[in-house]
Amino acid sequence: SQYRIAVVVGSLRKDSINRQLANAVVRLAPPEFEFRQLQIGDLPLYNQDDDADQAAPVKRLKAEIAAADGVLFVTPEYNRSLPGVLKNAIDNASRPYGHSAWAGKPAGVLGASVGAIGSALAQQHLRNILAYLDMPTLGQPEAFIQVKEGTFDADGNLGEGVRKFLQGWMDRYVDWVKFHAAGR
Ligand code: FNR
Repeated sequence: SQYRIAVVVGSLRKDSINRQLANAVVRLAPPEFEFRQLQIGDLPLYNQDDDADQAAPVKRLKAEIAAADGVLFVTPEYNRSLPGVLKNAIDNASRPYGHSAWAGKPAGVLGASVGAIGSALAQQHLRNILAYLDMPTLGQPEAFIQVKEGTFDADGNLGEGVRKFLQGWMDRYVDWVKFHAAGR
């Protein structure tokens, strides 16, 4: 496939609705797009003392981001912000100074919650970070997914209403990644 997307899910739990969303939404992309979820659960807590000798999982994460044409973040909201595990992954791959793996990678942001605001505040905090990291981030449509009965079917596919909306989102994201890939 022509375009590789690194998917970062901001939840470590097995039955994560955000992981379910990530697994379902990638099925809406065209065949020239390949998505791979990055592992972030084995990263050390970021410590600047380790910048000169980063741990193997950090090196792996950075290599996977470097090889990607774009990044897709799918995050829950914890206490009105992004989960610490996601911030930790972002921090680890952003260092040492001047050697961030994120810079220039086009990004998309999605998130799900059982609550009515669908992780909107977590996504807004995340966008602030991505702006600093110099990641051109798709602005619209925003996708604040409230998971309820019928959001996913028994096979993990999206229910009809949310599928139509996220198909529109994916079409825009695909164009966004292609646009930035062409500019490199
Ligand atoms: C939550 N949850 C939550 N939901 C929300 O809409 N806004 C919030 O601020 C929070 N805060 C929060 C903090 C912590 C520590 C937990 C564990 C949970 C609920 C959260 O959206 C719900 O548990 C999701 O299912 C978590 O996402 P995953 O793990 O299913 O992807």
